[in-house]
Amino acid sequence: MFRLAQVSDPHFRSFRPASLRQLLGKRAIGALNLLLRRRFKHRMELLQALLVDVRGRPLDHLALTGDLCNVALASEWNAALRWIEATGLSPEQVTVIPGNHDAYVPEVIEQGTFERLFAAYLTADLRAGAETYPFARFRGDVALVCASTAVPTGDLGAWGRMGEAQLARLESLLMMPEVKARCRLLLIHHPPQVNRHGEQLNLKDREALQDVLSRAGADLVMHGHDHRDFFKELPGPGRSRIPVVGVGSASYAGGPDRRARYHIYEIEGSSITVATYVHDPATRRFVEYRRKQVAA
Ligand SMILES: [Fe+2]
Ligand SMILES: [Fe+2]
Repeated sequence: MFRLAQVSDPHFRSFRPASLRQLLGKRAIGALNLLLRRRFKHRMELLQALLVDVRGRPLDHLALTGDLCNVALASEWNAALRWIEATGLSPEQVTVIPGNHDAYVPEVIEQGTFERLFAAYLTADLRAGAETYPFARFRGDVALVCASTAVPTGDLGAWGRMGEAQLARLESLLMMPEVKARCRLLLIHHPPQVNRHGEQLNLKDREALQDVLSRAGADLVMHGHDHRDFFKELPGPGRSRIPVVGVGSASYAGGPDRRARYHIYEIEGSSITVATYVHDPATRRFVEYRRKQVAA
């Protein structure tokens, strides 16, 4: 059995006077508001509790599906890197993709800052072209196919876009024999359909992605972004159905249906079971909240 943990939307927060200058210099005042508002919603001590839990479970791999930061500050990403290193997992055992917050300002996209900092977790076994995204990592019978929906939206929205060129490369990659021979997991930050209404929150070219998936297929789509768990499906080739699973935020301080959580996917042959672990404020531990088989 392959045990894959998914942690999403931790929104690591860390800013010092130097980064505050950077924030006010290059980013809108909206960024500061965002940080102040998020102080109570996303709590860093929940990420520490999650770290203790992850370290105590047998895992083959850990995937972080974006929004590692709030306003794309190096100090926030460095906090994420320290957390990843503290899991004790090797870089081969950790995969990271960006979310919309990891593209908060255009210069981090232009300079490839995220890709440089997280390079060890973005190494590819196979690509369909010279561009970073999408890329595939092979781990035994599993192919982790990683896409980026991150485009700079700043204070104005939280949408995503893959773009026609990346969608074409994704279709090629999903169809390559080395990928097709494995259990194909698509990792993507934004959901490939609408879970929360409002164009400013969603993937702009989701219909084009749905078309790619209906032709090329996949065994599972796993996403973050919505800060809630979702269990949905999309049509695959022929009459097949592709399970689409979203996980809530790893640091959210709200009630039990949204509180800090993560998933462990248990993959054995074609069978995929998702276990959701949620933070329990009474014991300050993560407890199994739900177990659901999404593929037989
Ligand atoms: Fe998020
Ligand atoms: Fe997001």
